[in-house]
Amino acid sequence: MLAVVVVLFLAVGVSDGVILSKCELKQQLEEGLTLQIPNSADVLAQIVCHVQLTSGFNTSAIKTIPEPQEPRSGPRRGRSPRGNNKGGSSSNESDEDKDEVWTLYGLFQLSDHVVCNSAQSRALNLCRLSCDKLIDDNTSDDIACVQTLINALTYPIPDPETARHIHKMISLIHQPECMTMKATSYFAICQTP
Ligand SMILES: *[C@@H]1O[C@H](CO)[C@@H](O)[C@H](O)[C@H]1NC(C)=O
Ligand SMILES: *[C@@H]1O[C@H](CO)[C@@H](O)[C@H](O)[C@H]1NC(C)=O
Ligand SMILES: *[C@@H]1O[C@H](CO)[C@@H](O)[C@H](O)[C@H]1NC(C)=O
Repeated sequence: MLAVVVVLFLAVGVSDGVILSKCELKQQLEEGLTLQIPNSADVLAQIVCHVQLTSGFNTSAIKTIPEPQEPRSGPRRGRSPRGNNKGGSSSNESDEDKDEVWTLYGLFQLSDHVVCNSAQSRALNLCRLSCDKLIDDNTSDDIACVQTLINALTYPIPDPETARHIHKMISLIHQPECMTMKATSYFAICQTP
């Protein structure tokens, strides 16, 4: 009997990840993130709101999407006219011109083309992580990676390609309805009785 329970527990733990509650994630972020900004409580609510809408608090969430276009800035001038020239003789252009997919990993839906390293992407690997680490039950490296991103955004990013990728990823997971979120209302259910 006990053995069955243990086996079931392991099976669940390994395959399906964990669905956190809003308040659990709030607590984990309070412990793991340093937000040196005045309205950090509301920013925390906004981050958790993004998680709710993008991954549904599922620590194992994975999504694959076509590489996002440049965040709209003026008329769309095809960054890669050569990319449309499919079936041309030598398709040995730089990777920049290929149709790529991005895989988004975990609670925060972070991209393998930006933060972590997977078989599919020759990535920036900003967080120096294997992408698998972002879909296990242990959220400490996920949160550390969010901290790395926040730190990176705090200062002008020297390398333009890095900046471009980070901004692409953020425009992708950006949820407009979260931007006005206030901690007092969003976390109201988390108040201790
Ligand atoms: C969490 O996401 C994984 C991967 O997409 C999926 O297999 C699993 O069923 C999800 N868990 C729940 C409870 O929705
Ligand atoms: C494409 O480039 C790779 C190295 O980047 C080279 O090994 C390969 O031979 C090239 N192929 C063609 C068709 O030029
Ligand atoms: C989570 O992973 C970190 C290292 O990434 C480790 O130090 C920590 O003990 C792990 N926590 C749990 C609950 O396994």
